Amino acid sequence: MTVPDSETLQFMQDMQAALSQSPKSISPKYFYDQAGSALFDRICELPEYYPTRTELSILQTHAADMAKHMGEHADIIEFGAGSLQKIRLLLNAATKPARFVPMDISGPHLQAASVSLQKEFPALQIQPMVGDYTSDWQLPAALPQAGKRVAFFPGSTIGNFSPAQALSFFRNCAQHLAGGALLLGVDLIKSPNVLHAAYNDAQGVTAAFNLNLLVRANRELGCDFDLSQFAHSAFYNAPLQRIEMHLLSLKAQTVHLNGQAYAFHEGETLHTEYSHKFTIAGVQQAAQSAGLQAGPVWTDPQHLFGLLWLDIPHTQETSS
Ligand code: TRP
Repeated sequence: MTVPDSETLQFMQDMQAALSQSPKSISPKYFYDQAGSALFDRICELPEYYPTRTELSILQTHAADMAKHMGEHADIIEFGAGSLQKIRLLLNAATKPARFVPMDISGPHLQAASVSLQKEFPALQIQPMVGDYTSDWQLPAALPQAGKRVAFFPGSTIGNFSPAQALSFFRNCAQHLAGGALLLGVDLIKSPNVLHAAYNDAQGVTAAFNLNLLVRANRELGCDFDLSQFAHSAFYNAPLQRIEMHLLSLKAQTVHLNGQAYAFHEGETLHTEYSHKFTIAGVQQAAQSAGLQAGPVWTDPQHLFGLLWLDIPHTQETSS
């Protein structure tokens, strides 16, 4: 038997905990194996999934203005870098960016995307980091000649955090990016119909993405999820301003992990993801409570999506 690597061990522990608790729930970070990352890229191109398209159009329209705020020789970090499509617009607009540090949990995907980005920007120093920005992260040492550290967190991925996790993400930014800034993409509250459709596409790509978590658990952890007996379920919880994504058990059934049996009732779900929706003022308030300062906001004409600039003050010297 092969010894599982530390990532697989972590997945196993988290899946064990997920199946033991009630309601059952697992971190969405486990969506992103290679197949999951590829499916996610397809989601971003679906007609119903407006956020990616809209955020790209905001970047296209306002990249020059954003670049002004970044200043010369910016040291740019991207969280959840994925396919690196959005950053190209910022890199093209930026004045002599010093370095680009893409951070993502999916190593192979990140490597491939970094190689192709390097071909387009041969002079740029690219330093990919495989890492989990949902816990406490580290950055490479600051470059001596670089300008501002600017972190880019697009895709409304912050909406996949709980409000408490979002706050601790802001606090980590305050600590690791002092004197720099965060450029944050957030999906805005809108018609529940539009939100619902975005997570229930007609082609079933989002369903395949959600179910891929079970495919991955079967392959990597030796689980025996019966894929024909679980269904994708996503709906907008309006009072809590979030899309909830679940895997719904279509019958009473038992799943095994590590010799242990876990029961699902008919209709019981394994919760896989939240996607919170925001008001601009709400995000600014949360960021401010972690010490960040609200700057300019860029949005599309229909106010579907927002990009917020948040300045991060230098840490206060407490000399006496
Ligand atoms: N963070 C984005 C969102 O919540 C993208 C995303 C993450 C997503 N997981 C997803 C989109 C699952 C569709 C389905 O919208």
